[in-house]
Amino acid sequence: MADDGGSFGPSELGTKEYWDAVYEQEKTNFKDNGDVGEIWFGEDCMERIVKWFREGSLVQKDDRILDIGCGNGALLVEMAKEGFTSLTGMDYSQPSVDLAVAISKTENVNITYQRADILDEEDPIFSVDRFDICTDKGTYDAISLSPDDASQKRRTYVNHVHRLLKDSGLLVITSCNWTKEELTEHFSSGFELVDEIRHPTFKFGGKTGTTTTSIVFRKKDSR
Ligand SMILES: C[S@@+](CC[C@H](N)C(=O)[O-])C[C@H]1O[C@@H](n2cnc3c(N)ncnc32)[C@H](O)[C@@H]1O
Repeated sequence: MADDGGSFGPSELGTKEYWDAVYEQEKTNFKDNGDVGEIWFGEDCMERIVKWFREGSLVQKDDRILDIGCGNGALLVEMAKEGFTSLTGMDYSQPSVDLAVAISKTENVNITYQRADILDEEDPIFSVDRFDICTDKGTYDAISLSPDDASQKRRTYVNHVHRLLKDSGLLVITSCNWTKEELTEHFSSGFELVDEIRHPTFKFGGKTGTTTTSIVFRKKDSR
């Protein structure tokens, strides 16, 4: 399948200015009334991902896990509550990192957060020990909406996640913009599909589909 950039166009969701403004507002809301903000793709979706971690055979509780574009860190908080002990969240938006740190303090969970841009090859995140697992819920989608050469940014993303992972490391990626087939094509240079986290299906015009796709890729060791 050709990687043609998808059927959706650029959007403000593909810009850092947008996310900085969103998380500044969410920081204020959290301070004022304890509202943690948006859970992207909903709580049920997040719970199905956490269930995969809890019940799956591919993961250890002490695996080094990095959430790419962690936003408010809600997924990591749930994983910490499940007993995962080595959790890091990164996001290129400083207000998002501030919010995630504040929420993790309130929840009394031990999560490391750092401001980092997955697309910046000079970022210090690429100098730390590699990770067993990366998670992404909505970040590849946001990058895909960039007004500025989204196709190149997506290719950079794939290369950089490959660099962040140990050999045979896993990427658990959730998207509402791309299908399983499209994601498999985009990541085929460095990853193989090993599992899928099923979300509810709907029927429209006689066709069955899902609004959200969560799949698990394993890093291929040689490219
Ligand atoms: C749709 S939100 C999802 C947030 C979070 N993963 C969740 O599920 O609630 C996309 C996130 O990706 C972050 N992001 C976008 N581009 C990024 C980049 N180049 N590096 C790091 N984070 C990025 C945004 O700041 C935002 O927090």
